[in-house]
This record gives sequence, structure tokens and C-alpha cells, in this order.
Amino acid sequence: MAATAKRIGVLTGGGDSSGIHAFLWRLHQTLQESGATLIGFERGWWGVAHGKWHEIQKSELRPLIFQSGTILGTSRTNPMKEGSMPQVLDTLAAAKIDVLIAAGGDDTLSVAAELSRQGFPAIGVPQTIDNDVIGSETSIGFPTAVQRGVDMVTSCIPSNWAHRRDMVVEAMGREAGWLALHIALATFADVLLLPELPFDLEAVADEIRRRVSAGQHSVLVVASEGVQVESARRIARSVDAFGNVPLEGVGYTLAELLAKETGRELRVQVLGYAQRGGPPTERELWQDNLFAQRAAQLALEGRGGLMVGIQHDQVVEVPLQEVSKGGRPVTREWLEKAASLGLLKLAHAGRAAH
Ligand code: F6P
Repeated sequence: MAATAKRIGVLTGGGDSSGIHAFLWRLHQTLQESGATLIGFERGWWGVAHGKWHEIQKSELRPLIFQSGTILGTSRTNPMKEGSMPQVLDTLAAAKIDVLIAAGGDDTLSVAAELSRQGFPAIGVPQTIDNDVIGSETSIGFPTAVQRGVDMVTSCIPSNWAHRRDMVVEAMGREAGWLALHIALATFADVLLLPELPFDLEAVADEIRRRVSAGQHSVLVVASEGVQVESARRIARSVDAFGNVPLEGVGYTLAELLAKETGRELRVQVLGYAQRGGPPTERELWQDNLFAQRAAQLALEGRGGLMVGIQHDQVVEVPLQEVSKGGRPVTREWLEKAASLGLLKLAHAGRAAH
């Protein structure tokens, strides 16, 4: 077994979230106790490819523990797509990094997997409000993003009821509907629309009409931004610099279509980037400590090629090669829970995992 690793690198990539600073603080703390140094790379893989790094001081993290964002900055730079893996390896050698810890979503983690495949020890930590990383049931940022969503939706409900009008809530979630699912469950929504399941606009309109004629003042529809409504997708603007289609705003198209079908007045609440902010929740802080502790342990032991995950509230280690196989859609088990509460119809199981 390799001697204790002394210089540990860390980066935060992809969409940021609340909880990153708590994670970084515990990581620093754990490493420092073993005499190791934590080197932060700027703006995700961009900083590794461009040689931008600095030694992280505890004093810079302390005041930020309960703040969202990431002091390291982030980006969607992917050195595999840009052909800059050789520069990444050069920087890691120049900075004398023994093990690199990458916190991000599947794109960020796929680079860590490749690095490990090439022989450099890299450790992954799931960090995404979408919570769609294979091998972990939760991720840094997810619990807080759910709570933020719930707070925003429950703030709107009394007004919807007062005005006797319906609402479409659009949650983030490009490929997976975990955020929309948990927000819908906690806000007693009436209809849930997910990227995992195709849906029938006419059936949703019928459901709204049915509830209104049964005396309900206001109907709540919660939809993921990646919801499968072709007409909504059509308004999506052109791709961004990283090849992603910005889907924010599909809720407006959905509401327009439903208003036309039902003759009802619908309002739209896009939860958007506010889901990445706010103070981390208790659950968030609890789990991010666990992610950090195990990542630090693995790094100190010089073990790479693994992602730290949490399954059934237990910390687990998952091979990074498994993680980089793709995303993690909402599981059949969860779809069934939502269906049993009448939130969605399970006629088509779509891409849901079994
Ligand atoms: O990374 C997760 C995510 O929150 C997605 O749900 C969303 O589509 C995307 O980020 C938006 O990212 P950007 O910051 O690039 O607009």
C-alpha cells in the first residue's frame, strides 16, 4: 500500500449546489489532521487543464460553511471532449498531487474515471442537485434543493387557492426527475411530469377538469424541466457552449397548452437557479460530512478509481467506471410510490430503472 498521500487535489465541476463548502471544510479538516495539504483547482476541470490551483486554507472555508456556491468556482469543461487530458496530467504532476478528488455530476465524474483508467488515482463524490449519479441515492446539494423547492411551492399554494387558479411548477432536472418527484410528494401536488415518462397532455387536462369539477379550487402540476412534451422542447433555445439545450422555461409552454385545453387560468413558477442556493439543510450537512470523511480516508490511503456514495444511509464505495456509464433515472420503485398517490399514471414505464 502506498505511503500516506500528502498533497490532495480537489475540484468542483458542473452545476453547483448548497453543501459544497461544508463538504470542503470537512475534507480539509480530516486531511489536515493527518498532516496532508488540500490543493483546490479553479473552475472544475478547467483549472486542472489550465494549471490554476492554490493551497486551500481553513480560514477561507470557515465563514462559508453555511453558504451555497463554491469558492473554487465551477465549469462544464470536459478535458476528454476538449482533448486536454495530457495537460491535466501535466498540471497534476507540476502541482505534485498524489490523489485528486472530483465533486460533480456524471460528466465531471467521467473525467475522474478516465484519469483513474490512465493510472492517476482519482476519487469521485456525487455533487448535483439533479441527484442522478449512478451508485448513490443522494448527492451533495440534493437535500437542500428539494427543501428550497418545497419552501417555494408551499409559499405559492395559499395564493393559488385564494385566486382559484392552477399552477405549473417547473423544477430543474434535465434527464432525471428526482427533484420534481420529491418536491411533488412533499407539496401534495396533483400531477407530476417527469423526463422518465412520456405523458399525454389531454390526460393531464382531463385530470385538471376532473379535480376542478369535484370542487378543488386550485390544481398543482409539478414538472421537471426535461419533461417529455415535444411542443415544450420546441421552444428550447439553441445549444450552449457545452452542447446542452437550455430547457428552463418549458413550464410556460406547458401552462399555455393546458390553459388552452382546460380554459383554466394557470400560473407558472420556475424554481430555476434558486434550487442551487440557500443555507444547507440538516440532512445536507449530515451527509456532506460523510462524503468528505470517506473521500479523505480514501485519498490518504492513496486509493483511486472509486466514488463515495450513500445507499440506505450507509457510505459505500463504487467503482468510477460504473458511475461513468450514464445517469440514474427515477427508479420504478419511486414511480410506483408516486403512482400510488395518484401523482402519475404508470401506463408507460419509459426509461425508468427497475
Ligand atoms: O447540473 C444540473 C442542472 O441543475 C440541470 O438540472 C440543469 O439543466 C442545468 O444544471 C443547468 O445548468 P446551467 O448552469 O449550465 O444553466
